[in-house]
Amino acid sequence: MSKNFYITTPIYYPSAKPHMGHAYSSIIADFFARFKRIDGFEVNFLTGTDEHGLKIQRAAENKGVDPLKFCDDISQTFRDLTKILNLTNTDFIRTTENRHKLSVQNIWNELKKNDDIYLSKYSGWYSVSDEAFYGEDEIEEIDGKKQAISSKSNVEWVDEESFFFRLSKWEKALLDHYEKNPDFILPKSRRNEVISFVKNGLKDLSVSRKSFSWGIKVPDDNEHVIYVWLDALTNYLSALNYPNTNDSKYKKFWPASIHLIGKDILRFHAIYWPAFLLAAKIPLPKKIYGHGWILSGDEKMSKSKGNILDPIEMINEFGIDPLRYYLIKEVSFGNDGNISKDKLIDCINSDLANNFGNLCQRVTAFAIKNCGGIIPNKIKFINEDKKLLNKFENNIEAIREKIDNQDINFYIDFIVDCLFDTNKYFNDQEPWNKKDDQIRLNTIVFTTLEIVRKISILLYPIIPKSSLKALKIFNLSEKDIDYSSISNNEFLLKGSEINKIDILFKKIEKNND
Ligand code: MSP
Repeated sequence: MSKNFYITTPIYYPSAKPHMGHAYSSIIADFFARFKRIDGFEVNFLTGTDEHGLKIQRAAENKGVDPLKFCDDISQTFRDLTKILNLTNTDFIRTTENRHKLSVQNIWNELKKNDDIYLSKYSGWYSVSDEAFYGEDEIEEIDGKKQAISSKSNVEWVDEESFFFRLSKWEKALLDHYEKNPDFILPKSRRNEVISFVKNGLKDLSVSRKSFSWGIKVPDDNEHVIYVWLDALTNYLSALNYPNTNDSKYKKFWPASIHLIGKDILRFHAIYWPAFLLAAKIPLPKKIYGHGWILSGDEKMSKSKGNILDPIEMINEFGIDPLRYYLIKEVSFGNDGNISKDKLIDCINSDLANNFGNLCQRVTAFAIKNCGGIIPNKIKFINEDKKLLNKFENNIEAIREKIDNQDINFYIDFIVDCLFDTNKYFNDQEPWNKKDDQIRLNTIVFTTLEIVRKISILLYPIIPKSSLKALKIFNLSEKDIDYSSISNNEFLLKGSEINKIDILFKKIEKNND
C-alpha cells in the first residue's frame, strides 16, 4: 500500500476576509493531514485562493482597485490564516500564479484535442456569487428578484457566445464510476443526491465567458476567458506540476486521496471535475467528501447574511486549540452544526480543562511528590491497569479504518471515553492510599502516565499545541510522535525525569449578561 496521502481544501474566493466556514474546512483537512503524518504517511496538503471570475472582478471594481492587487491583499489574509489556525499545509496555491495558468491551458488543450469542447452560445441564468449556471427549474422569483433555489443567491441573464464542454457525453461513464467506487462521494446521502442529479440528464456546460476579462485566456481565442470553475478545479493538479506527469510530486500524489469540500460545491467536484478528468484522460481522485455547514442561528454563515463569527476574534479570545477542538468535536462531521460562544466555553471547561488538563496536572504533581519525580521503575500490572491500557492496542486498527472513512466522531468519542475512564481509574485506585505498597502506587502512576501519553498523541491532530505541551511531561517532542506507539504499554522510559508543565487550559467564567 502506498504511504502517500494527498489532501486538499477548496481554494477560497478572496472576495472578503476569511470566516468560520473557511476555517472549518481548513481545520478538518489539517486534522487528517496530521493524523496521516503521525501514522507514517508522506502528506501533501494543499490549500489556496481562487482568484479569477466575475465575482472577484466586481469585488475589485467596487473597491476601485486593480483585481490582481485586490487578490494580493486578501489572498495574504488567507495565507496568514494558515499560520493562525496552525495548519500544516505543504503548499498554498493562487490561481493567478503562472504554474496554474500553464496547467489550466493544458487541460483546455487536452479537452479540445479530444473533441470535448465546441463553440456555441449560452443563453440562461448565472449567479455571480456562486459562479454557477442555473436552469429555469433551479431558480425562483422572490420580491421581484430571480434567485437560485439552492443557494438563494441572485441570478442574472447571460446571452453570449461561449465554448461548451460536452458534459452530456460523460453521463454514463460518471454513473459507472459512482457505481464501481461506492466511496467516491461521501457521505452516502450526498452520493445519492449526485447520482439522481446525473440520472436526470446532464446538459453540456458553458466553459468560457466573453463579457469580462478577469481570467485565464482560452488558448487560441483571447476574446474568451476560461470558466472560473474549470480554472479553479485544476488547482489540485497544477500544485503537482501537471502537465509534467513525470514530475515526482505528480507521481507520488496523483490521484488525490481526498478532496475535502463543503456540501454547496459538491456538483462542481463530483460531476464537473471527474468529467473534465475523464475527458482529459487523467485518473480521478479517490474520494470527494462534502462536509456540512457551520450555522449561525440556523443559517449558513455568510457575508451577505451578516451573521459571521470571526475565527480570529474567537482565537484571540479563547486560543486556537479550543476552537479546533470545539469545531472538530461539536459539529458532527458530515452534518451541519450550529455553533455558539456559550457551547465553546462549556467544551473548554469540561473536556479540555477538567478531563484532560486536570488529569495531566494531577498525575504529574502526584508522581513528583510520591515517585521521586521520575517515571516509576518498579511496576507490576494487574487486570484493572491492563484493561485500560489495552483499549488502545485493541482499537489501533479500528481507529485507522475509521479515519479512512472520515469517521471523526468515532475518533473523538474514543478519546472522550478514554479520558473519562482514566479519571475514574485514578480516583477509584486511590494511589494516595497506597503509600504502604509502593509497587502498587508506582503502577497506578505509570499506567496513568502511559495513558496521558497515548491520549496526547491522539489529541495531536486536534489540538497540536496543547498535545505537545502535555508531551513535554515526558520530554517528547513532535518528531517522537508515532501513532503506532499507542499500542506500546511500556513506552515510557522508566527512571527518566518527569517535567512539571504549566496549566494546559484555564477555566472560563461565563458572562451571563
Ligand atoms: N472558490 C470556491 C471553491 C473552489 S475549489 C476548486 C468556493 N470558495 S468559497 O470561499 O466560497 O468557499 C470555500 C469553502 O468554504 C466551501 O467548501 C464552502 O462550503 C466552505 N464554506 C463557506 N461557508 C461555510 C459555512 N458557513 N460552513 C462551512 N463551510 C462553508 O466555493
